[in-house]
Amino acid sequence: MDLQMSTFRPRSADPAEDPEAVAWLRAVSQGFHQDRLTDEALGRSLQGLLDDGFTLRAVHDHDIPAPADPRRPVATFSSTDGTINAGAGRMLPARLITDVTVRPSHRRRGLLRTMMSAELAEAKAAGLPVAALTVTEGGIYRRFGFGPATFEAKIEVATDSRFALHTPPDGGGQVVLVDAAVLEEHAGEIFRRYHAQTLGSVQRFSVIPTHVSGLWDWSSREENRRVRGAIFVAESGEPEGYVAWEARRDPDEFGKITVRDLVPLTPRAYLALWDFLGHVDLIDSVRWGSAPTEDPLRFALTEPDLYRVRGLDANVWLRMLDVPAALTARAWQSTGSCVLAVEDSLDLVGGRYRIKIADGDAEVTRTDDEADAAMDAAALGSICLGGVRPSVLAAAGLIRELRPSVAASLDQLFAATGPVWGITHF
Ligand SMILES: CC(C)(COP(=O)(O)OP(=O)(O)OC[C@H]1O[C@@H](n2cnc3c(N)ncnc32)[C@H](O)[C@@H]1OP(=O)(O)O)[C@@H](O)C(=O)NCCC(=O)NCCS
Repeated sequence: MDLQMSTFRPRSADPAEDPEAVAWLRAVSQGFHQDRLTDEALGRSLQGLLDDGFTLRAVHDHDIPAPADPRRPVATFSSTDGTINAGAGRMLPARLITDVTVRPSHRRRGLLRTMMSAELAEAKAAGLPVAALTVTEGGIYRRFGFGPATFEAKIEVATDSRFALHTPPDGGGQVVLVDAAVLEEHAGEIFRRYHAQTLGSVQRFSVIPTHVSGLWDWSSREENRRVRGAIFVAESGEPEGYVAWEARRDPDEFGKITVRDLVPLTPRAYLALWDFLGHVDLIDSVRWGSAPTEDPLRFALTEPDLYRVRGLDANVWLRMLDVPAALTARAWQSTGSCVLAVEDSLDLVGGRYRIKIADGDAEVTRTDDEADAAMDAAALGSICLGGVRPSVLAAAGLIRELRPSVAASLDQLFAATGPVWGITHF
């Protein structure tokens, strides 16, 4: 095998003008078991990569025997830079990683490790404080220093005749049904405002409004005409949240709604959208995969048993690249200090750090002082936004207390300024 890794930028949204990027896209769709890409899908994908400033990484096998096409990469990887809301409206810059595939004939030879190591080193050199990804398989990324940092609940709410809220929407504002094009028009701006105010949120790529509205489904690579949408409009006329969903129903039976995207800007918009979903006729349950782990809906329902958690998934995994930059970027709420020893098998952030917190800010410096606790880079990635408590990781054997009961004081020190919740998948 003659393996060679390269990085490149897509050049054109016209598939005919960018065969290198087209071959890369075909490899990605193969890796994720998607349909072969049509010209329309290729054009839209290239446009999306261009709009979001993606860099593509590929490994080619120049020794691959005919009839295999040597221009088709045997491994793919892509990245761009975005932001993560780190509390109090502060934005943490992040290298966002996606499209990780390795061809079955070339797996388990270290190609992912080679691509990931190069990417993380380059992101660090470029000054990014963290890298982030969302996973299909949770067992892969801890070895590269990624820890799960935000979570989402998979819920099912029974919406039969028992569905009612303690405080039904009071008429201040209204949920209105909208066509896909109108939903697409508003989805980007509503999400932008959600991202600006929600701790744990990750910036979305430019294609998402088209995807959530169903005008172009990025999974099926065609229009999804099942998608319906509604917007909560405040008395002022301002959109304050939206929901997009698909309903499925067999004749003569009650059906189910699956929420595709639900983006509230205020608690009242959240409840109003749920009140709307709970009263759709011919439907007896609503499923959603991105509910907050501390969901107000559970308490708003007069019959809490209607609410069922079907699963709890990690959403965003974070990888420290620059500990002082990452921790000073977030918002803090307690006062105190600690010394953490960080171990890093990739040698990007290993060492001891003193973290002093006062007045909502942290001062983070390297130190030779004795550490209070030791952890690997992945554990620090998990606790860095406050979405995972250090004492939980200590109990899991992932943080070592070097002073008795220090995990409890770390819990206070690292406590988030609010609920940590993200609804971005990439
Ligand atoms: C997952 C995938 C990218 C791995 O690529 P790869 O080149 O075979 O991985 P590497 O040989 O570089 O392995 C790197 C390490 O990850 C481990 N690893 C790889 N795939 C793994 C998996 N699916 N589960 C658990 N560990 C895995 C390897 O054992 C190796 O561990 P080590 O270095 O500590 O010994 C590849 O199998 C693939 O393309 N799968 C389909 C698409 C996919 O799942 N993408 C990831 C979405 S999150």
